This record gives sequence, C-alpha cells and structure tokens, in this order.
Amino acid sequence: MAKITVIHGPNLNMLGKREPDIYGAMDLSQLDDAIRRMGDQLGHLVEIFQSNHEGDLVDYIQGQGGKADMILINPGAYTHTSVAIRDALLAVGIPTIEVHMSNVHKREEFRKISYISDIVVGTIGGFGAQSYLLALAAAAGVVGGGRQ
Ligand code: DQA
Repeated sequence: MAKITVIHGPNLNMLGKREPDIYGAMDLSQLDDAIRRMGDQLGHLVEIFQSNHEGDLVDYIQGQGGKADMILINPGAYTHTSVAIRDALLAVGIPTIEVHMSNVHKREEFRKISYISDIVVGTIGGFGAQSYLLALAAAAGVVGGGRQ
C-alpha cells in the first residue's frame, strides 16, 4: 500500500459555488469523497489537504518528505506564480502529478505558464473533477502495488 497525497490550492474550497461553468457543480467535500473512494478501490492510502495560503502549502509539502510516495497537486492560481511551491516539491523529491480541473491552455495567457510543469511526472487537466481521478489512476501506475 502506497501513500498518495492530494493537495488542493487556493479557492478550491469554493468548488460548487465558484465559476460553476468552468469548475462544475461538485463541492470539495464531494470531490474528496470520490478521491478517497477511488483510493480505497486502488488499495492505497490517500491523504488530502487544502489551503488558501502559500506558506501553509509549502509547510505541508515539506511535511510529506519521507512520508508520501506520490503527490497530486492542484496549486490553483499558485501554479502560475509560486517559486516557493516549486522549491518545496524539489526539496522533498516526491514524484508529483500536476492536476487542473480546467484546460488552462484554453484560457487566459497567464494560465499557460506553470512553475511546476517541468518538474512533475506529468500534468492532467481539462476534465473537471475527473482530472483528479485520472491523476489518481496514473499515480497508482507509477507507485505500483496496491490491489491487484
Ligand atoms: C486551476 C486553474 C488555475 O488557473 C486557477 O487559478 C485555479 C484552478 C484548475 O484546476 O483548473 O484556481 O488550477
């Protein structure tokens, strides 16, 4: 059994209310339930964390060092700005998948820049809540083991 850590960045606590035409109607607790259910099915331990604060996200990533086998992170708007989150991921050296609900390449120019794309295993985006489940399936493929 591997530990897969899922991290939601700023404003993802507003899912369901926030721009539902872009991010859908599901709220964060429903999304987290779906992620946990899939983690159980895959036979892996899933831990989930959300914060609106860059420093808290950095602290949490640092705390995963030596604990998580894989990180799935949707850094929200910090994707496009945060050297600190990039450096924290590099510091812990845990294989990471970048997740986005929307297709950032179909949106404003500034969303096309990611500070982590070049240091992650891969990026999944554009599939709404499903992006996280696709990323979880991909993570299970990377860590191996789990339920056969
Ligand atoms: C997002 C895309 C970001 O540009 C935006 O700031 C978010 C959510 C996504 O999941 O599509 O907060 O990461």
